[in-house]
Amino acid sequence: MKELMQKLRDASLQAVSQAPSMEMLEEMRVKYLGKKGELTAVLRQMGKLSAEERPAMGQLANQLRGDIEAAIELRRAELSAALMEAKLEAEAVDVTMPAKELRQGHKHPMYNVLDQIKDIFIGMGFEIQDGPEVERAEYNFDKLNIDEGHPSRDWTDTFYFTEDSQILLRTQTSGMQIHAMETRELPIRIVAPGRVYRKDEVDATHSPMFHQIEGLVVDKGVTMADLKATLNLVVEQLYGKGTVTRFRPHHFPFTEPSCELDIQCHKCGGKGCPTCKGQGWIEVLGAGMVHPKVLSGCGIDPDVYSGWAFGMGLERLAMGEYKITDLRLIFENDERFLQQF
Ligand code: PHE
Repeated sequence: MKELMQKLRDASLQAVSQAPSMEMLEEMRVKYLGKKGELTAVLRQMGKLSAEERPAMGQLANQLRGDIEAAIELRRAELSAALMEAKLEAEAVDVTMPAKELRQGHKHPMYNVLDQIKDIFIGMGFEIQDGPEVERAEYNFDKLNIDEGHPSRDWTDTFYFTEDSQILLRTQTSGMQIHAMETRELPIRIVAPGRVYRKDEVDATHSPMFHQIEGLVVDKGVTMADLKATLNLVVEQLYGKGTVTRFRPHHFPFTEPSCELDIQCHKCGGKGCPTCKGQGWIEVLGAGMVHPKVLSGCGIDPDVYSGWAFGMGLERLAMGEYKITDLRLIFENDERFLQQF
């Protein structure tokens, strides 16, 4: 039996120390130490031994078990070190390779202009109001005194979601006037920037999506003089002191009276040039005194309160400010264009 054990020792320790993989090592553990393994088989024969021989053999067997276990552990450590080595080699980073260029992004030119405008209005005590781009016809039209049949409500001009023309992509930010008046305490001073949508073909001056910024003031005793003074201040901060403005009569269903604001061309000083298309003036925004019907529709008594509102297109402003001649450049996100700002 002693020889048998010696043979098992020689065979097992050699096999274990040369196991080529973790899987084979595990197979060997089962082969030698498992319940049906070779060491167990040897131990089973202990019964045949005399009582004097048994303790010494038992001790030898235990020692062999311990030695095989130790050999397995050793081989396991060797194999896992080799595996790690191979993995490191496979995933090695070549530190001599040139690094990827890290480029820092920056603000889009239109958002530069928007932030400038927000700052000006916040400085005058206005708050910024956010609102939905998917809107009810009620807010985009009805409550703004734009009746059924008005051309801007036409299917050819407006993106509707429903057959009954009740849910749409807002065509203007003026619906924010209604949201503000319905949800805010008086007095109100807000500006509301955001996207608007119209069924326009894309060209150098049109896009089916563009941005507006709406402004609204409602308080006691507000007059057209406040509108003019405030907007003149804004224009001076945007275009420099002494910029000449012109308030031209106009029509909007939700303001009365209504006007458009032009600035004298900052490029040619009003003589006429390509920037102002020979006009000497550049149209900046639409505005007016909030229509009494719109006020009362929002539960505000037009005999006590009055207000003024304006709406302007942000792309047009950015184009003017940065001398951008094609609206498409603003949306295409071509880096060669964006990097210039
Ligand atoms: N919503 C108008 C437009 O899109 C602009 C406007 C806003 C006019 C507020 C008057 C008052 O043209």
